[in-house]
Amino acid sequence: MAPRKLVAGNWKMHGLSGDIAEIERIAAASRAYPQVDVALCIPATLIERAARAVPGFAVGGEDVHAAEKGAHTGCTSAPMLVDAGARLTIVGHSERRDAQRESDFEVSAKADAALGCGLAVILCVGEILEVREQGAALDTVLAQLDGSLPPQPVGAAELAVAYEPVWAIGTGKVPACDEIAEMHAAIRARLVERLGDSGERMRILYGGSVNGSNAAEIFTVPNVDGALVGGASLTASAFMPIVAAAAETARRA
Ligand code: 13P
Repeated sequence: MAPRKLVAGNWKMHGLSGDIAEIERIAAASRAYPQVDVALCIPATLIERAARAVPGFAVGGEDVHAAEKGAHTGCTSAPMLVDAGARLTIVGHSERRDAQRESDFEVSAKADAALGCGLAVILCVGEILEVREQGAALDTVLAQLDGSLPPQPVGAAELAVAYEPVWAIGTGKVPACDEIAEMHAAIRARLVERLGDSGERMRILYGGSVNGSNAAEIFTVPNVDGALVGGASLTASAFMPIVAAAAETARRA
């Protein structure tokens, strides 16, 4: 049986206290789609207020430090995220791999730290355009996945992998369905090889310019178990059609 779809928003560096009302709208509207898991990963400054405003709804962080505490100015630890009310966190987003020069090893340590504190993890992988044009996308992404998976065994409910081709993020460009299918199948095979049965059931999300118009088609691609959504997750009006498309795919399955 296909896993439940997960539609997660990544607000990136967007959101002030006035936007809690939008989170409330998304949480309330999500109740109409009980067959889909919905989550919002938001700036650390908003997590506590959001978690209080929408108890029962999955609010998460966008990144986490691998250490429990210490001299790491500006960073947020997994216990801090949990303390603020987060249930999950993203690790390894390409914007951090690029701007903060995060290595696969660091991403793996972050995932390990988050899981150790009971947070679910969305682990991002994805190739840059040059790599795709060279025909090296599959090898590159699988190597990233190998290096970024946490060292400990992990259950299917605790980790999701998000395939986010860097060239599709915020550009309005989306890979062809057969390109997504090929990559997701390769990720699935590697997850099964590494994690056995939980790799079969682990969710593989697609991310990169997902919106209300293209979500339904993307969700029909084999091994696409949901989406990680940037820009279109900032408002209920843009985000909910994506959740509705996931629910419709689940209903037809
Ligand atoms: P967009 O949906 O804005 O392309 O962003 C995707 C993303 O980076 C989600 O993590």
